[in-house]
Amino acid sequence: MANDSAIGIHDLSLATTEFVLPHTVLAEYNGTDVGKYHVGIGQRSMSVPAADEDIVTMGAAAAAPIIARHGGDGIRTIIFATESSIDQAKSAGIYVHSLLGLPAATRVVELKQACYAATAALQFAIGLVRRDPAQRVLVIASDVSRYDVDSPGEATQGAAAVAMLVGTDPALVRVEDPSGVFTADVMDFWRPNYRETALVDGQESIGAYLLAVEGSWKDYTEQGGRSLEEFAAFCYHQPFTKMAYKAHRQLLNYCGHDIDEERITRHLGLTTAYNNVIGNSYTASVYLALAALLDQADDLTGRAVGFLSYGSGSVAEFFAGTVAPGYREHLRTAANREAIDRRKEVGHARYRELHGHSFPPDGGDHLVPAETTGPFRLAALRGHKRVYEAR
Ligand code: HMG
Repeated sequence: MANDSAIGIHDLSLATTEFVLPHTVLAEYNGTDVGKYHVGIGQRSMSVPAADEDIVTMGAAAAAPIIARHGGDGIRTIIFATESSIDQAKSAGIYVHSLLGLPAATRVVELKQACYAATAALQFAIGLVRRDPAQRVLVIASDVSRYDVDSPGEATQGAAAVAMLVGTDPALVRVEDPSGVFTADVMDFWRPNYRETALVDGQESIGAYLLAVEGSWKDYTEQGGRSLEEFAAFCYHQPFTKMAYKAHRQLLNYCGHDIDEERITRHLGLTTAYNNVIGNSYTASVYLALAALLDQADDLTGRAVGFLSYGSGSVAEFFAGTVAPGYREHLRTAANREAIDRRKEVGHARYRELHGHSFPPDGGDHLVPAETTGPFRLAALRGHKRVYEAR
């Protein structure tokens, strides 16, 4: 199953926001039993962007340590995956390319298919590297998940970015062929161009996700993929962490396995630690699961990890990766923890202000208040142009 020439994730770095809203605060405000959040959906808190943070500032913050470690010279392509795009025409990746001072000889593009797009970006990156093994591709997944306030989706908001360097002889994860893929035209979650917040049919979206788990696994096995027993762990897209458990039970049931909760926890337990406190980060979510797994697991060298990437609408992909020898020396565990722990708690009123602030201005010139202590910020909107700066 392993590829002849190993290609995969050579480095992975994450970033999230300045602020965090604990679910205890949301529960107290709306009178919900906090057990519904902590146990029912499996979420403790959600990342909340400052007024001067967005997918670009988070994406650049995630990618900067990768450029600092490896340099930018081998990177000829940046693929920016997002579903909370800030422009209908220009790729958010171009702002990141500029903020990081990368060479002009680079192609930059933005990809969209709800939460799935980062996996498309990873697979396209592998294709580019296979064509030209000297090339490295920078994949950035960055999203702000925003639903209407006082809606059922509100408790599943969040924001984060993951940057991955894709190349040959990867230090972290070798991505294998084959992939199992699945597409179905469903309206479970969508965001028309005129809306800042997503529309969702919650129960339909859970059903569509579960159907996609079966569909992508079925295709994976038909393509000659590994058997379920071979996997040490599974990284699922986690709109809320309990969804990974629902999905894995569905997979075990579909494969005719007993639902052994102890085994399920062994497969998933470590993958939820970052998503549980960050919330839904859409495209980044499944790769936050990978970061949490690698950061916390005992030695996974040579072990197979299953990835299930789901994006509403809907597209899903199941694929496997094997963990590379010596991977632990390349992890960013302390920096990842710091990115999460440095967030400042906000109260409910402040969270509401920030939720409202992100609506687009009327096109007039607008100085954005300086709030973030992260490395990059959105400083202003001038003549309909976004102005970013390094802090
Ligand atoms: P809801 O109506 O607020 O909650 O919606 P619920 O009544 O379904 O309860 C949720 C769970 O909490 C249930 O457990 C309850 O029993 C339990 P389950 O039956 O599911 O096992 N519960 C409690 N547990 C302990 N103590 C209590 C208690 N009370 C209730 N006191 C929903 C929940 C997730 C639907 C809502 O938050 C929502 O609409 N979220 C947004 C949509 C979403 O996340 N969908 C997930 C699948 S689609 C997807 O992953 C794609 C996505 O990321 C977008 C993209 O691809 O771009 C969203």
